[in-house]
Amino acid sequence: MLSSNEIRQKFLDFFQKRGHKILPSASLVPENDPSVLFNTAGMQPLVPYLMGQKHPLGNRLVNIQKCVRTQDIDEVGDNTHDTFFEMMGNWSLGDYFKEDAIKWSYEFLTNTDEGLGLDPKRLYVTCFEGDENAPKDTEAFEIWKKYIPENRIYFMSAKSNWWSVGDNGPCGPDTEMFYDVTSEGLGDLTKEEYIQADEEQKVVEIWNDVFMQYEKRDGKVIGKLSQTNVDTGSGLERIVMAVQGKDNIFDTDLFEKIMSKINELTNNENTRAKRIVADHIRTSVLMISDSVVPGNSGRGYILRRLLRRAIRFSDVLEFKHGGTESCLRYVAQEVVNKYEDVYENVKLLESKILVEIGKEEKRFRLTLKNGLKEFEKGIDPFILATTYGFPIELTLELAKEKSIEIDLADFNTKMAEHQKLSQTASAGMFKGGLANHNEETVKLHTAHHLLLAALQQVLGKSVKQRGSNITEERLRIDFTFDRKMTDEEKKQVEDIVNEKIKAGLNVLRREMPLIEAEKLGAEMEFGAKYPEVVSVYFIEGTEGVFSIEFCGGPHVTNTNELKTFKIQKEEAVAQGIRRIKAALF
Ligand code: ALA
Repeated sequence: MLSSNEIRQKFLDFFQKRGHKILPSASLVPENDPSVLFNTAGMQPLVPYLMGQKHPLGNRLVNIQKCVRTQDIDEVGDNTHDTFFEMMGNWSLGDYFKEDAIKWSYEFLTNTDEGLGLDPKRLYVTCFEGDENAPKDTEAFEIWKKYIPENRIYFMSAKSNWWSVGDNGPCGPDTEMFYDVTSEGLGDLTKEEYIQADEEQKVVEIWNDVFMQYEKRDGKVIGKLSQTNVDTGSGLERIVMAVQGKDNIFDTDLFEKIMSKINELTNNENTRAKRIVADHIRTSVLMISDSVVPGNSGRGYILRRLLRRAIRFSDVLEFKHGGTESCLRYVAQEVVNKYEDVYENVKLLESKILVEIGKEEKRFRLTLKNGLKEFEKGIDPFILATTYGFPIELTLELAKEKSIEIDLADFNTKMAEHQKLSQTASAGMFKGGLANHNEETVKLHTAHHLLLAALQQVLGKSVKQRGSNITEERLRIDFTFDRKMTDEEKKQVEDIVNEKIKAGLNVLRREMPLIEAEKLGAEMEFGAKYPEVVSVYFIEGTEGVFSIEFCGGPHVTNTNELKTFKIQKEEAVAQGIRRIKAALF
């Protein structure tokens, strides 16, 4: 039986042999896309290349991308849902199209030598039925007919067979492969029977080939892209489940040891709760390994929610190490053991991962104690959530025990309002690396604003930021510009930034209506969506404003807190996009 590690390797080998270059997984935290908190699909880090930019590795790529999706969090506990997963994908950036994509998917799944040797008789396929945006995909259907009997191919609507991420970007019809995971085997199914089997998780989606040839803007398909792409996504967990003959992902080798540890810690038989703990701790470990820490907004909040939910379910399970002691660390240790050879950061950050999870567990247990006191005094679920970090489900459960009604609509309205405000405040977080608010990163963050303004002064206003990343040691900015900068230009830029540092300009944060900020020409993050009221940073002196950027901060209050600014490297990242790395000395 193939192990998950062998499957990963086979996938990469299969496509490498067919001209694909291996691309390592990007971080869970998107670098160049401020519109999402986590990478939710393999395509996210590749959007610019699907839109036509040249990829440095060529036009055939293969990768296994770490992803987090939390929108189905309530489904976790069933057979197939998880909040972290690895997506195996092969990519054609304007190269091959439907014929090869389908052939290779089929071959990899069923070939006993180079592929996984799955049973072709257990495969079912869906194709796009067509709508006002694109015609019925008879082309994919005809290709599939070479491999799969016609009565196992179903046409489905855009709801299931059109892929896009959000309202903007590349998209297209897809064809999906499902695998029968029942022990008896389902045989031929009518469309209705297939839909039923899918609902009952008797057949499980294992691969999706997206034919990305359209573009969406503001939720509407506006036309074709300049090239036809293939974006495929095959969830490793589900593939392993099919290959290892299991009917759920928690029985595969990916979860085996994690589940045994949980079983060791409890005598309880609640399978759903065990799976939730396993899933949430696994996701938390991988998030922390990509430098996310528990917090009250943005990514940190998602992580906190997962950990707190895991803690609650560990209580449901009455873990033997319960009480105030951290018991989730033991589960986390198993996750580390499983992934440390796959993702280097898991190994490197092992102790940080365990410490963060232990700390959060202690903190939450205290919260629970205080929150419970508050709860006894009278319940405002909004206050409990925002001040005491009580997840609403917990308040609801407690209220139920005491037969108290909770006004959920009121809570939701207040929360929506609250989240809008905190999004404004955390808009700056999207600038990369700023979960880390230490002094050095804050200084570099201000240097980043100065640098962008200086670049525009030297190279022209058409220079726009396309990505950024800040660590304690250096800043990195990607920006639009179509050639190498000359030494003279680099020197000019450095001089301007250093002059502004010496001049001691004030750095001021102002909240203002979005329209007003736009009128002022504030620099925006490419592709970002802003709320109606935004936070804007101004760097200004007596002679006027030098820089205006949409940003949540934090920043130094005066540029004279920075030291000497130096550009360390200027290079190309893609056609028309340059990258500068710089530091303060
Ligand atoms: N982007 C496609 C998906 O995630 C392959 O399903």
